Order: sequence, then C-alpha cells, then structure tokens
Amino acid sequence: MKIPSHVAIIMDGNGRWALERGLPRSKGHQAGIKTFEKILKKSVEMGVRCLTVYAFSTENWKRPAAEINFLMNLFQETIMNHIDELCEKKIRLKVIGRREGLPANIIKTINKAEEKTRDNRKCQVNIAFNYGGRAEIIDVCRKIVSDYKNEQLIDEELINKYLYDDNFPDVELLIRTGGEKRLSNFLLWQSAYAELYFSDKYWPDFDEKEFEKAIEVFKKRNRRFGGLPEEGEK
Ligand code: FPP
Repeated sequence: MKIPSHVAIIMDGNGRWALERGLPRSKGHQAGIKTFEKILKKSVEMGVRCLTVYAFSTENWKRPAAEINFLMNLFQETIMNHIDELCEKKIRLKVIGRREGLPANIIKTINKAEEKTRDNRKCQVNIAFNYGGRAEIIDVCRKIVSDYKNEQLIDEELINKYLYDDNFPDVELLIRTGGEKRLSNFLLWQSAYAELYFSDKYWPDFDEKEFEKAIEVFKKRNRRFGGLPEEGEK
C-alpha cells in the first residue's frame, strides 16, 4: 500500500519526558517542538499530503494557568518563527479548533499565518489548537441547522464541507505517542476509518526512524472499509 495521504498525530508524553529528567514540564513541550519540526520535514520528504497535530485540546484548559500560558506562548512563537519557512517550502498552515476563548494576539497570529500560506499546495499542516472532536461536530451541527431547513440535504459530503477545514482528506494513519491507547477527542469524524498506531516513545523521543516505522506498519495493513478483502488477500 502507498504512503498515507493524511497522517494525524497525538503528540503525547512531553510532561513525563521532562519529569523523568528532573526538568519542569515546560522543557518537555519545548523539546516537543523540535520533534514536530523533524516530523513535518520528514512527512514532506515522504510525500504525505496532509499532517495534523494535536497541540491543545478543549480539555487542556483544566491544566494549571502557568502551563496554559506557556503553551499559548510556545504556540504563537512557533508559528511566527516558521511562517517564512512554510512559504519557502510551499506548505499551507491551518489551525483547526474553536477561535472563541483564545487570546486576541493568538487569533491575530493564526490569521496572519493562514493568510500568508493560503496558496501553498505541496503539503498542508493542520495544528489542532483549542480543538475537540465533539466541539467540532457540535459546531458543524449549529451551522448546518442555521443554514438548512431540509434535513434530507444532510449527508456525509455536507458535513465534510462544514468541518473546521473542508480541504483535507480523511485521516488514513493516526499515531499516538506516549504509551496511552485512546483517541482523546481527536478528529472523531475524520478518523472513522483511520489505521491506529501507538508508540510507547514519549513525543520528544519520537523521531524520523519511528515515523518511518509507523508508515511501514501502515503499508502492511489490510484496509477494508467495511467491505471484503481484495482478491488474493486474506
Ligand atoms: C501532550 O503532552 C502534549 C501537549 C498537551 C501539548 C503538545 C504541544 C507541543 C508539542 C507544543 C505546541 C505544538 C505546536 C506544533 C505549536 P502532555 O503534557 O500531556 O504529556 P504527559 O502526558 O506526559 O503529561
């Protein structure tokens, strides 16, 4: 099988990585940025068309204020530092999630980055920020109800159009690092038929080799989408 067109990643384990080294959790998040940069580069090299990473969930507001502030600043700084490179490499950046509740300066940065990279077509990177899969489905329903009066018009295609981004394909491979085996409210609609891959590595320890390993495992999977195996397959 070929390279997955859309890879989604739950970048888990930053905090534990830091604590095991006697460092504050913030150092784990900083190290996580380095891994994100490596994996984005590798994805583009391998021909992945779309990469979505989970950077801040609608549930992460439950964390201490200091960690939330740190993650907000790190997110903003990371976007600002990468706009030029994304443009050079023809990568489109989208931030998916609820804008409400985010500080005004962050919203401004998101708008600027999305605007500047809008026409890039080599690859799309989505950063899920203030994102929740259920919140997204609720937001889709609210918009559809206000736009449509006829429930017969509601089908998968229409819902796809109302998601936070209507441009990317279904998730084909979903990777979660850090040892936990759950979806944590990530891309619930888009991952309906995703192949799941769990790595015990903490996100800062995940690297290009581990990513290649996940892709190799994906290539060997037998995807049936509810149908029967192709001829010659078990
Ligand atoms: C999970 O580790 C990670 C997060 C909640 C945030 C991930 C954020 C980054 C890597 C930085 C921002 C990313 C971008 C692309 C701008 P955890 O804190 O839940 O770790 P733990 O499970 O070990 O506590």
